[in-house]
Amino acid sequence: MLDDAAGLSPPAALAEIERETRELGFAMASEARAGALLRVLAAAKPGGWFLELGTGTGLATAWLLDGMDSASRLITVEAERRLAAVAERHLGGDSRLEIRIEDALNFLEAEREQRFDLIFADCFPGKFEGLERALRLLAPGGFYVVDDMLPQANWLAGHAPEVYALLNDLEGCHGFARVELSWASGIAILVRTAEAIVP
Ligand SMILES: C[S@@+](CC[C@H](N)C(=O)[O-])C[C@H]1O[C@@H](n2cnc3c(N)ncnc32)[C@H](O)[C@@H]1O
Repeated sequence: MLDDAAGLSPPAALAEIERETRELGFAMASEARAGALLRVLAAAKPGGWFLELGTGTGLATAWLLDGMDSASRLITVEAERRLAAVAERHLGGDSRLEIRIEDALNFLEAEREQRFDLIFADCFPGKFEGLERALRLLAPGGFYVVDDMLPQANWLAGHAPEVYALLNDLEGCHGFARVELSWASGIAILVRTAEAIVP
């Protein structure tokens, strides 16, 4: 019988990261099913270059690392040092990972020559602002992933129209294959085709 919560087998570091996340009262953490999907996508790109915008405490980071092979690399970008410190404590020993403490929009601009095989855009930059900057960094065949596309209890007033506008923008992206999933908090995935033109 299909059970979407069964058999997720989380990464080893996850329980401790979750414990510290609760202690910090950090309420924007990604859920396990989103992580499990990211792990599958990461496993589809051997030797891949991965980018996460908005590390938080490192939950999705841990899932991505769990799917990556030894030749893959992940850069994760977080503005708040105290949050990234949790990821650093539990995942910082992994030589495939680079944690950057900086503004994600600045990162997207500074790294405009870089190409990634998967971008998990989990903060405003690269998602609600600078979407095209993020899509430009996607390699052909690369995945662009966002979550929290379904209404969430912690949404601020006025956030719903921003989400609908984003879904509309994603639908309007030419040269990308797209799917929306009622999975976890609501996921949208674009895959860049070789023909994609990003302004
Ligand atoms: C939804 S949470 C990320 C959750 C995380 N990916 C996870 O798996 O639990 C968004 C994160 O983005 C960070 N953030 C917000 N604005 C940012 C910015 N301009 N640059 C970098 N990080 C930012 C926040 O501090 C927060 O940790």
